[in-house]
Amino acid sequence: MFKGKKIVITGGSSGLGLALAKELATKGAVVVLIARGKEKLENAKAEITAKGGRAYAFSSDVSSIEAITETFNNIASEVGPPDILINSAGILREGYFDRISVDTFREVIETNYFGVLNSIKAALPFIIKSKGRIVNIASVAGLMGVFGYTTYCSSKFALVGLTEALRYEMKPLGVKVHLVCPSEFASPMTEHLNDTRTPENKAHTLTIPEYDLDTMVRDTIKGIEKGKFMIVPGILCRLTVLGARHFSEISRFVCDLKISRSWVDRHL
Ligand SMILES: NC(=O)c1ccc[n+]([C@@H]2O[C@H](COP(=O)([O-])OP(=O)(O)OC[C@H]3O[C@@H](n4cnc5c(N)ncnc54)[C@H](OP(=O)(O)O)[C@@H]3O)[C@@H](O)[C@H]2O)c1
Repeated sequence: MFKGKKIVITGGSSGLGLALAKELATKGAVVVLIARGKEKLENAKAEITAKGGRAYAFSSDVSSIEAITETFNNIASEVGPPDILINSAGILREGYFDRISVDTFREVIETNYFGVLNSIKAALPFIIKSKGRIVNIASVAGLMGVFGYTTYCSSKFALVGLTEALRYEMKPLGVKVHLVCPSEFASPMTEHLNDTRTPENKAHTLTIPEYDLDTMVRDTIKGIEKGKFMIVPGILCRLTVLGARHFSEISRFVCDLKISRSWVDRHL
């Protein structure tokens, strides 16, 4: 499925994007990494090519439609038209709603929502021609509310809505759309989160099973290969999501209980 395919991965210089790029390169794909930071991008590309993989790196900002459109045109002429787009670029901001500025909300939405939207717009002419795939990395926080994630949940819920609706429009054009909703995993995004996150957020996220990066990569690729629309890596996480969606009252009750314990600790 991936051999010889040109796969563009936004956020490909780090975390899940980079881990997917490495794995797909070993499966024979030509991977094209996009991120802003040039040094990390070049290191990521070097890591893949040192192991015999074929990789390219393009520095660009997904939150700018002009920049990302130019980047996809450059990719098409320098590497060839992409077959698959994986949208992994994202940022996380955590904190109490009343202490988060509107500018921070905009920053998160511009990256996690418009960043994906812009990349799809820029890649779509190529993806339609190749009858390819679009893979959007959302989050479990795009399916259920999480304490401290008002910015992040807003952006990921919007992304889930976009992906669900887009799937219907892409189907008659022969383009497959996948929605990946991971739970928390260790990556540069979450590295220092425990130093700063609110106790309530810590308590709440503990109710959602955490997985390692390998499980994320394995289950994401398996889900794409099987043609699944919604991919939730990790069996326990799938059960948690199922519970939260179908027994939402019970799920909220359990989360309230966990959160209120940490809240009482903090305010006594
Ligand atoms: N880690 C988790 O626990 C977790 C859980 C659920 C879902 N997710 C989602 O999974 C995806 C990957 O997360 P991760 O943990 O792998 O994050 P990460 O290690 O922090 O990597 C984020 C990547 O996105 C790039 N990026 C950020 N803003 C960008 C922009 N405006 N334009 C272009 N590239 C940009 C970063 O490079 P530059 O900064 O150099 O641009 C980096 O390559 C994200 O969408 C995240 O929301 C993560």
